[in-house]
Amino acid sequence: MIPVIDFVAPAPRTSLPPRSALRFARHAAAPAGGEKVRTQDGRELVLRAIEPGDVAAMQRCFTRLSPEEIRRRFLHAMSELPTPMAQQLCRIDTARETAFVLMDESVRPAEMRGVGRIYVDQATDTAEFSVLVEHAWSRIGLGALLMQRLVDDCRRRGLYELWGYVLQENRPMLQLCKELGFTQRAIPDEPGIMLITLKL
Ligand SMILES: CC(C)(COP(=O)(O)OP(=O)(O)OC[C@H]1O[C@@H](n2cnc3c(N)ncnc32)[C@H](O)[C@@H]1OP(=O)(O)O)[C@@H](O)C(=O)NCCC(=O)NCCS
Repeated sequence: MIPVIDFVAPAPRTSLPPRSALRFARHAAAPAGGEKVRTQDGRELVLRAIEPGDVAAMQRCFTRLSPEEIRRRFLHAMSELPTPMAQQLCRIDTARETAFVLMDESVRPAEMRGVGRIYVDQATDTAEFSVLVEHAWSRIGLGALLMQRLVDDCRRRGLYELWGYVLQENRPMLQLCKELGFTQRAIPDEPGIMLITLKL
């Protein structure tokens, strides 16, 4: 009997982006199946589009977040990520949304270490972003990588502006956005919240 060998083409490897404006160099769309990202400390993740089957991994990721990280991501406190909300976040309408995840496939089940997403407003040709990187994987360029891919996606969509709300206390995100060329301003009626924008 002839053995059947499943052949899976190796995913292309992606290095983390350089630490400068070069981070906004254009990239091709993420290939189906994702692309490997190797961190400077030798860990490996797969960057790919979010899938409906990511609900459980997303809920486990949520349980690893501190209350402060949750508040910074969702702009309010949340004690759990209810399943209907996780399902909604994973089953996206690609005409109006893009979401990339960074999956750690060195463990079983695979764990979600980061998520970046945009919601497109077709009326204004703009998109709102959000991004999250799990603490144990922070400060190695993954937040910048996700933001860079979202910017690329917005440009592919021909949008005019990418924007997001960031808490004024959220110095890491404000610093990240500043480094990536976003401008920031306070919102008069929303004390403690900054509006971050990038003209595309
Ligand atoms: C903000 C967040 C996404 C940053 O992710 P990250 O993967 O750690 O970011 P990076 O490693 O790509 O950092 C890129 C740059 O951001 C800035 N930065 C990131 N973390 C920082 C920190 N703790 N203090 C100061 N600057 C920081 C730095 O300029 C850094 O560049 P450098 O490492 O060359 O100095 C992550 O901390 C997070 O998920 N926080 C909770 C959720 C959140 O705040 N989301 C944003 C609102 S939508």
